[in-house]
Amino acid sequence: MSGQRPDSERPLPLSNRTDDNVQGHWLLARLGKRVLRPGGVELTRTLLARADVSGADVLELAPGLGRTAAEIVARHPRSYVGAESDPDAAKVVRGVLGGDRDGHIEVRVTDAADTGLPDASSDVVIGEAMLSMQSDTAKHAIVAEAARVLRPRGRYAIHELALTPDDVAADISADVRQSLARAIKVNARPLTIAEWSQLLTGHGLVVEHVATAPMALLQPRRVIADEGLVGALRFAKNVLTNPDARKRILLMRRTFRRNRERLTAVAIIAYKPA
Ligand SMILES: C[S@@+](CC[C@H](N)C(=O)[O-])C[C@H]1O[C@@H](n2cnc3c(N)ncnc32)[C@H](O)[C@@H]1O
Repeated sequence: MSGQRPDSERPLPLSNRTDDNVQGHWLLARLGKRVLRPGGVELTRTLLARADVSGADVLELAPGLGRTAAEIVARHPRSYVGAESDPDAAKVVRGVLGGDRDGHIEVRVTDAADTGLPDASSDVVIGEAMLSMQSDTAKHAIVAEAARVLRPRGRYAIHELALTPDDVAADISADVRQSLARAIKVNARPLTIAEWSQLLTGHGLVVEHVATAPMALLQPRRVIADEGLVGALRFAKNVLTNPDARKRILLMRRTFRRNRERLTAVAIIAYKPA
């Protein structure tokens, strides 16, 4: 896309935290990773195909570093609005999108629960790897906001971390949540697929499609698929040459591996009834 700057020149989300205590997604970003969601680019593409963004007014909640934003804009939506709470990340997304295309592209620094968009103004709302890190109250507020801004027949597409199976015992899910919190320094609260679906239906949406992918964020094959060979090699070099970051990444990887039977990536598309 014209006007794009190379990744290396873009500002990265600032955090005054060091590599051993920064949130896991910003640590990955510092090390050069751009895809920060559990099911990777492949599950995102399934989501985008199902959500049908071409010609649509699209709202993306928490675009992060703009990888999905670029995929959405490449599919020629009528308009794109990103709602990102981190001002530095929002700047990165604006850089990735490279210009405002006659007011049809906008990235707002705002909470996803309060986008400032009018009622029934979007055909598609997309949010990836952002509900899992919210409290129950915030999850409800964000889903209510998505339902509010959707037009009838509009689609809400989410891509999140899920606990599995649906009847996982409470002590096991508490244990998974605790070890995730220790490793990624985010109070991650993934739900089961049934609970994610209930969250959406509880706000008047109808679940249309559910897809899953292994939670393989840090597995070499997935890193190459998501970042390309050059990006994956750059990420590996950055991890290997930075001892504090390496310790964190190894802990994250061990935690994901240890819990691989308990965690999955899930994409759900729900629509607002007419
Ligand atoms: C794990 S990253 C995922 C980024 C991107 N969606 C992706 O999948 O690569 C989480 C993102 O959610 C953003 N975020 C977290 N809570 C938010 C909120 N309440 N409103 C808007 N953005 C939020 C963070 O700033 C960050 O960019």
